[in-house]
Amino acid sequence: MTVFETIRNRRTIYEFKPDPVPNETIARILESAVWAPNHKLTEPWRFIVISGRVREKLAAVYCRIQREKTRSDDPEVLETATRKGYAKFMSKPALVAVICRKDPEPFRAREDYAAACCAIQNISLSAWEQGVGMQWSTSAILTDAEALDLLRIDPETEEMIALLYTGFPALIPEQKRIPATERTAWLD
Ligand SMILES: Cc1cc2nc3c(=O)[nH]c(=O)nc-3n(C[C@H](O)[C@H](O)[C@H](O)COP(=O)(O)O)c2cc1C
Repeated sequence: MTVFETIRNRRTIYEFKPDPVPNETIARILESAVWAPNHKLTEPWRFIVISGRVREKLAAVYCRIQREKTRSDDPEVLETATRKGYAKFMSKPALVAVICRKDPEPFRAREDYAAACCAIQNISLSAWEQGVGMQWSTSAILTDAEALDLLRIDPETEEMIALLYTGFPALIPEQKRIPATERTAWLD
């Protein structure tokens, strides 16, 4: 696959096969992240690969958030939210959190966030090249105090900018885009 083909074919994946993604594969994917462009070589990122006991605890946080979203105190509604939330969260074979350092200077913070997003694109493209799919999630869990505490992220100095649900695709959705020709001005 050429870089263009990988870019063109990559899709956000929502349904995964249950097969685990080997740690070596994840490690190789993350190696591509740190080669993203970053201004002043701030390398503002770090990554947390979540599994085992921590994943179970994070699933409990996810379920609590799902219960809160219902705005209900009906035990049946809450029980359904918990059950569905747990099944959904645990259907993601691997979880990778992307953490971006917070710079106190707004311009630098913006550049660092942009660089960390480039790192995420590197991750998702090199994953795709290896047959691994991802969903970039920006759900409420990213800023949840309990989740941040569990993952040892200090919200004063760092931000979780993505939780990447990761695994081998069970279903590859179709997507559409407006052609670049319709979004491009050539000024001469
Ligand atoms: C910054 C960012 C945040 C995203 N957050 C979510 C999310 O929280 N939930 C979700 O289902 N998809 C999320 N996505 C994935 C987009 O929905 C997806 O890229 C879009 O539907 C286009 O599909 P494609 O990636 O297959 O081209 C996010 C993507 C980006 C770039």
